[in-house]
Amino acid sequence: MRNAVAAVAESIPRHIAIVMDGNGRWASKRFLPRIAGHKQGVEVLKRTVRSCVLRGVQVLTVFAFSSENWKRPPDEVSGLMEILVVALSRELNQLKKEGVHLQFIGERAGLSERVKKSLIEAERETADNHTLILNVCFNYGGRWDLVQAAQALAAAGEPITEAALSAKLSTAAVGDPDLVVRTGGEMRLSNFLLWQAAYTELYFCNVLWPDFDEAALDAAIQAYAGRERRFGMTSDQLPGSQTASV
Ligand code: IPE
Ligand code: IPE
Ligand code: MG
Repeated sequence: MRNAVAAVAESIPRHIAIVMDGNGRWASKRFLPRIAGHKQGVEVLKRTVRSCVLRGVQVLTVFAFSSENWKRPPDEVSGLMEILVVALSRELNQLKKEGVHLQFIGERAGLSERVKKSLIEAERETADNHTLILNVCFNYGGRWDLVQAAQALAAAGEPITEAALSAKLSTAAVGDPDLVVRTGGEMRLSNFLLWQAAYTELYFCNVLWPDFDEAALDAAIQAYAGRERRFGMTSDQLPGSQTASV
């Protein structure tokens, strides 16, 4: 018989989403240009992907460039675009070996042809992989996602329901995250997965993204495992509760 412990979240989240924040501060602390923090951030993402595979996480969604990040100085924006293209060409073979299926989520229209080409190639090359889905949110905003989903429904003349809208979101294939982690100490979503995070467990830590390591990941997973996900119900109603609901 399942006991009350079963009412807490499963110990390993199926889908983890991360706001990888703090690259600039990490670099400034070392008197380095901000871009050095973004480069280190890519290294940490590679390690985190591996750690997630080892722990049996099935989907990892990361926030790499927001709709609002275009407001940054042009040098930083072009540096981030360059880092993406270079990282994809360097890491694609390794990601393929690790069974990672890459998907990019966000508005493609604003991206250069070169960036679009490298995203499409990475998606195509990893399409048959099944160990872990890595969704990279690039030129992504939760408001954009909701608007494009609503526009798709309107264009198809479909009635707007929760299920229909969810099915048109850019994350429809992977479902909602179980856990959102934000590094860097800020406690906000910054336009990340606004609809999808309605019942997601949130975890904020002060670790700057380039310092995020296995211990920091495990601390987030441990915090998640101790949460009781009630989805609006009472504790007694949850599966595994020993008290019959009345
Ligand atoms: C997150 O780190 C990466 C991106 C937004 C692209 P930041 O660049 O926001 O780092 P901080 O928050 O300024 O330290
Ligand atoms: C959120 O971080 C976006 C990414 C991590 C890609 P920001 O650094 O852009 O968020 P704000 O500006 O502090 O809210
Ligand atoms: Mg930031």
